Amino acid sequence: MRKNVIAGNWKMNKVLSEANEFVDAVIEKVPNSDNVEAIVCAPFVYLPSLVEKAKGTNLKVAAQNMHFEENGAYTGEVSPVMLKDLGVTHVVLGHSERREYFAETDETVNQKTVAAFKHGLTPIVCVGETLEQREANETMSLVEDQVKKAVAGLSNEQVAETIIAYEPIWAIGTGKTASSEDANEVCKHIRNVVKEVTSADTADKVIIQYGGSVKPANVEELLAQSDIDGALVGGASLEADSFLQLVEAGA
Ligand code: G3H
Repeated sequence: MRKNVIAGNWKMNKVLSEANEFVDAVIEKVPNSDNVEAIVCAPFVYLPSLVEKAKGTNLKVAAQNMHFEENGAYTGEVSPVMLKDLGVTHVVLGHSERREYFAETDETVNQKTVAAFKHGLTPIVCVGETLEQREANETMSLVEDQVKKAVAGLSNEQVAETIIAYEPIWAIGTGKTASSEDANEVCKHIRNVVKEVTSADTADKVIIQYGGSVKPANVEELLAQSDIDGALVGGASLEADSFLQLVEAGA
């Protein structure tokens, strides 16, 4: 039985006082449940404060990106060693905004995924198609390629612990959600791809989230699907009440 992982990706939003207020408002209300895991994916500069607040609670704290090297002359970058040292548990990798605006490729996503496991971080690996690719019927082959490249070189145990977020790019921040059936069809395909490159047992364990205009009004229907195990949420994760409603829907 897979749990639901609800991850709120704040992207480049909030100032420190707002980040702290959010966590103060939700921290005691995140349920202690085997069915749901709640994560906030915050900008790097807020991670020390949020990790401190989240210690000993049910809330996990993630970074939104990292470099794959441990240290070195990479001005402006943050390494997996730094994140682990802070107490960060998860890291979002290959978000479509990083692929589009910051030259992230399947190869760098793979290097980062391997580095995350090397340093005890759980990667949330994002895949998904553009509207043009969907209209050209390329969705399945594209996500298949992205998933295979992202997990190359991982052991079956590591793949089982990877969180894969299927985010159709045309549904991000647009208010357009993939229908729950369409989203499930792609998530099911991703699970089959994982089975093909690992094992049936691994595919059974891997958490596959849906992301793209998820909100309290549509989350239950999405989570009711056979192969959707949570959500990666942008806009609707910025308000504490809305984030808590999403987490409760997953519990
Ligand atoms: O990481 C989150 C996704 O990009 C979804 O964003 O919920 O604002 O559409 P959104």
